[in-house]
Amino acid sequence: MTGSLSNKMALGKSIKMYLTIFVATTCIYMLLYQYHMSRPPLASNEVVKHPEKTSLPSSSSYIASYLWAPMVNSSVINATMGVEQIQVHGQVQVHGPNTTDSSAPASASVSAAASASSSGATHYSTVSLPQALSSDANLKSIATTTTTTTTVAATVPTTTTTTTTSTTEKLKTTIAQSSHAHKLTGKAAHKIRSTFVAVSEPPPLYIITPTYRRPEQLAELTRLGYTLKHVLNLLWLVIEDANKTNPLVAHTLDRIGVPYEYLVAPMPEQYKHTKKAKPRGVSNRNRGLDYLRANATEGVLYFADDDNTYDVNIFEQMRYTKKVSMWPVGLVTKTGVSSPIIRGGKLDGYYDGWIGGRKYPVDMAGFAVSVKFLLERPNAKMPFKPGYEEDGFLRSLAPLVNSEIELLADECRDILTWHTQTKKNPAAQPFNVTRYGNTNLAYIEKLLVRP
Ligand code: UGA
Ligand code: MN
Repeated sequence: MTGSLSNKMALGKSIKMYLTIFVATTCIYMLLYQYHMSRPPLASNEVVKHPEKTSLPSSSSYIASYLWAPMVNSSVINATMGVEQIQVHGQVQVHGPNTTDSSAPASASVSAAASASSSGATHYSTVSLPQALSSDANLKSIATTTTTTTTVAATVPTTTTTTTTSTTEKLKTTIAQSSHAHKLTGKAAHKIRSTFVAVSEPPPLYIITPTYRRPEQLAELTRLGYTLKHVLNLLWLVIEDANKTNPLVAHTLDRIGVPYEYLVAPMPEQYKHTKKAKPRGVSNRNRGLDYLRANATEGVLYFADDDNTYDVNIFEQMRYTKKVSMWPVGLVTKTGVSSPIIRGGKLDGYYDGWIGGRKYPVDMAGFAVSVKFLLERPNAKMPFKPGYEEDGFLRSLAPLVNSEIELLADECRDILTWHTQTKKNPAAQPFNVTRYGNTNLAYIEKLLVRP
């Protein structure tokens, strides 16, 4: 009896003990569960997928992703360029318009030797990256531009592991995608070697700029020159209304570094002394046309006065002109703009504050002409007729029908050139040699224009 009683007691004790342990364990589990639930979820970068890489300090994560990403050799380009090798290391952005300037990649391949020499041989020396395709907005504007669109896009060489490019839109996508290319392909690739893409030069641009001696001259040429420096395969024909060249102008052109020819073409005496309006820049432009007839075979010519303002995009658009292209020019006459009128997709007259019986009431800054087209018209030139220079020149290009005129700048819905005019500055007052003769001012003095 006692034996069975003590047995029962022992059994009761161990049941009690087991129950206590069970309850205690359950409580501990519940507490742990509560604690776990109360913690914030792990941030994604805390999730350790590749323990071997986590040994790198966190700041090297970019370097690590660069090392591990397959090389995406995108030969990005601008619409006009020859070979422009920019290696895309998964960090490419298609820049918005407001960041364009500062963000345009600075790297550029120098395509060939030195700058133009006075012998007439032209080389391309300074190649900077035009921003034609570096901004989203630019891409859009090119995409919506008439016939040039296809040509511009077709010359864009793009090699990525994801797509080949046949349209501007695709290019945009490609650039954007390349940052994630390694994710899309999952392929490993060589880490150093870049892909060679052979690209032919885009058609040459011949920019004819009349200029003349005045206090603003070097300033105007400097401003225009650095605009042109953004444009590839361009020859700047700077033609001065003078009997001889000015070393200060040559020096300024050298310093800018755009391939140039510096020529002179004085205004005929009969116009110089007239009280009436003078045919400004006409002998200069005709000298430029003569130069092209003697030296050019293809490409496009454009008359760029030294004082106007030019968006570099217009150069990329005019580059593929088949015959004649036109677009609006801001700050012209009381209408504020001189522009072709497009109705129902067709050229239907011109908007300008002064028509004056002109067939082509356009500004000098508002049209470009194909060199081949010019060469087929051996008599085409600019008349010494103030106010009618543009009209006279365009008429001399006949036969030319309106439907052959290409309409640029987003089918003339945008302004990319302006007829800006610099305030006239008085000649500098005489220099006091006795007082400043042995100072730096004696050097600066030589750069100034006297009456
Ligand atoms: C306007 C037009 O935009 C010019 O294209 C046109 O030649 C001129 O009118 C005209 O019809 O006479 P605007 O701004 O009034 O131009 O003229 P400027 O800028 O003073 O001169 C036009 C170009 O000719 C400039 O590149 C200027 O440097 C050059 N020029 C001017 C000369 O070569 N010699 C001169 O005596 C005056
Ligand atoms: Mn002007």
